[in-house]
Amino acid sequence: METNGLEIEIKNLTIKAGKTAILNNLSLKVKKGEFITLLGRNGSGKTTVLKSILGITKPASGSVEIAGTALTGAAIRAMRLKTGYVPQYFSSENDFPITSGDVIAMGKNRKQAAIWAREMKLENTVDRPFGSLSGGEKQKVMLAMALSREPELLLLDEPNLNLDISAYRNFIALVEKLKSRLNLTVIYVTHLTGHIPKSCLRIVVMKDGEIIMDGPKNKILKNKNIERIIYG
Ligand SMILES: Nc1ncnc2c1ncn2[C@@H]1O[C@H](COP(=O)(O)OP(=O)(O)O)[C@@H](O)[C@H]1O
Ligand SMILES: [Mg+2]
Repeated sequence: METNGLEIEIKNLTIKAGKTAILNNLSLKVKKGEFITLLGRNGSGKTTVLKSILGITKPASGSVEIAGTALTGAAIRAMRLKTGYVPQYFSSENDFPITSGDVIAMGKNRKQAAIWAREMKLENTVDRPFGSLSGGEKQKVMLAMALSREPELLLLDEPNLNLDISAYRNFIALVEKLKSRLNLTVIYVTHLTGHIPKSCLRIVVMKDGEIIMDGPKNKILKNKNIERIIYG
């Protein structure tokens, strides 16, 4: 599977809820095949950035361009087809009649679903109700679904929230392996400075709907005041 990864350009984007700006004149460029971490405390606007890239939110002003095309109408649909999105929260009733295998196949088709179920060691879950899986298994199923779409872009919103530390490490290792194999563009969101994947080299720090720092991981994490800047 050969892909090039997508380039994303957010220009002066403002998103409002009522009169309050959730994103305030935010600009961000992510190159093809780049792996970035969006870091910021709860409420800083990280999820809203991902939703803007998916065309779910309506800008008050500014724009999002994907591979040089403004994200409107048909371009939003085309974009979603190229994107694997693992949302921050998901839930399902335990008696909802859908199996893990069904969820993975929502990504593309049964054949791709079987490939990713095997790749992610989820074969033993595919006939079980989705709601009966553990949080970590659900997270992996969501990633398998995202990957079975054969995406060029992967958006991961705080995947650590449902995983214990060893499941989280496995999850990140898998993302890193797939990122390099498929040359995906990856935007990984977290509010924890200690949870930045090894192979991610660029950190974009958000606060109050704005980007306050953007640079190499080493440089940003070396800043003695980084915790205060992020959480203070
Ligand atoms: N649909 C919405 N309506 C009103 N406020 C919202 C909406 N979505 C997000 N917000 C607010 O915008 C801010 C940023 O939210 P979000 O992007 O989810 O932050 P993060 O993912 O960094 O925690 C928060 O204060 C949140 O309450
Ligand atoms: Mg969020």
